Amino acid sequence: MSPPTTEPSENPSAAADKPWGGRFTAPTDAFVEEFTASVGFDQRLALCDIEGSIAHARMLSECGVLSTAEFADIERGLGLVRADIEAGRFQWSVKLEDVHMNVERALVGHVGEVGKKLHTARSRNDQVATDIRLYLRGQIDALKDNLGRLLAALIVLAEREADTLMPGYTHLQAAQPVSFGHHMLAWFEMLLRDADRLNDCRRRVNVLPLGAGALAGTTFPIDRHRTAELLGFDAVAENSLDAVSDRDFAIEFAAVAALVMVHYSRMAEELVLWNSQAFGFVDLDDAFCTGSSMMPQKKNPDVPELVRGKSGRVVGHLVALITLMKGQPLAYNKDNQEDKEPVFDLIDTLAACTRAFAELVPTLQVRRERLRAAAAQGFIAATDLADHLVRMGRPFRDAHAVVGGAVALAVERGCELHELSLEDYRRFDAGLDESIYDVLDMDRVLKARNHFGGTAPAQVRAACVRARERIKRVLG
Ligand code: ARG
Repeated sequence: MSPPTTEPSENPSAAADKPWGGRFTAPTDAFVEEFTASVGFDQRLALCDIEGSIAHARMLSECGVLSTAEFADIERGLGLVRADIEAGRFQWSVKLEDVHMNVERALVGHVGEVGKKLHTARSRNDQVATDIRLYLRGQIDALKDNLGRLLAALIVLAEREADTLMPGYTHLQAAQPVSFGHHMLAWFEMLLRDADRLNDCRRRVNVLPLGAGALAGTTFPIDRHRTAELLGFDAVAENSLDAVSDRDFAIEFAAVAALVMVHYSRMAEELVLWNSQAFGFVDLDDAFCTGSSMMPQKKNPDVPELVRGKSGRVVGHLVALITLMKGQPLAYNKDNQEDKEPVFDLIDTLAACTRAFAELVPTLQVRRERLRAAAAQGFIAATDLADHLVRMGRPFRDAHAVVGGAVALAVERGCELHELSLEDYRRFDAGLDESIYDVLDMDRVLKARNHFGGTAPAQVRAACVRARERIKRVLG
């Protein structure tokens, strides 16, 4: 993006250089000009602005408001403006305040007087709402593609590590055995819900405000459904006041983005923990880590740490947007200009973090032996032993107490459950026999949880097959 120029007005006696300057007798204060301008950031909407303008002008010509020749000139001129922008030679001007007036002035520069007809039956209020919806729609689609890549990478990893035993945690205390693949599929579930939320959000983004004018529509015989058709909108905003003032769709996007980032942050936190010396469960690829300027031994998990850190700004943008709308009377207010920077940063942050994870996940080295060793500690088969006693006919509460006693004994001796003797166990329940050692077998404990949604390797593999189909259903 090029910085807009701020050279002084040619006619300093009035705001005559402004497209709206007619009723003004004094020039805009230089600070106010800077303060109110949005072109520094909303030039990002330029291509959507042009797309919207061409559709608007075409519709106007079809409705007889513009002649066919006028439309042809406008369409050609907007094509030239687009070429200037794409080539990076467009001169953005703060005096022209925003992307809309910059583009319109450039159009007039290319095609002359007829360019001034483009703004017939339109206001910047319905124009900007249209632009940002078009822009966001495109970005949601791009985001869905990248999220799809990450989801697919998680399934590949889950399938590869379906048989990999690890301790599952509650309260960050070793709890019960799980498959590493199952854990990856838990991440998959969070993110697939997010993808679905993006779909839902997109439906409400993809509604056309254009034609609402400044707030009360227009006196020209326009065909808003035709404009919607030309721009690929699913629906036309029903109420002109609401159409220009509504930014719910941006808030919804921010809410989805915040939830995605919370999920990324949780994933990042686990990666940071697992990559630590204390856990040693995974090795992050060198390409995703950096070193320390002082400590030669360090390999820091910067990428997941940054992702975790960036969740803060995204949640902040959600708060900014929702607060922006609070207390605004109908219809458009200049407050709404404040929607763009948060939305753009949401998009950029989400895109970068999604890319980071989509590229990191396939390179993740899983340290199976370390995971297995960790699973052998912490009595994670204790529930299996209690379940065994239940199968022998003991009530679960009694079984729980028996195993609790065995755990206490193992803690006292500093050993694991399978290291207690059968005699030890028989002191707690005389009915126990050698089969308890099968129950405590680490391979068996994983396979034993064999039901829909369970962590048995066969269930994980079946879930991966379903997951591939579910991605298709959600992401198309
Ligand atoms: N730059 C403005 C925005 O982002 C465009 C709409 C301005 N409308 C107005 N009536 N001043 O919201």
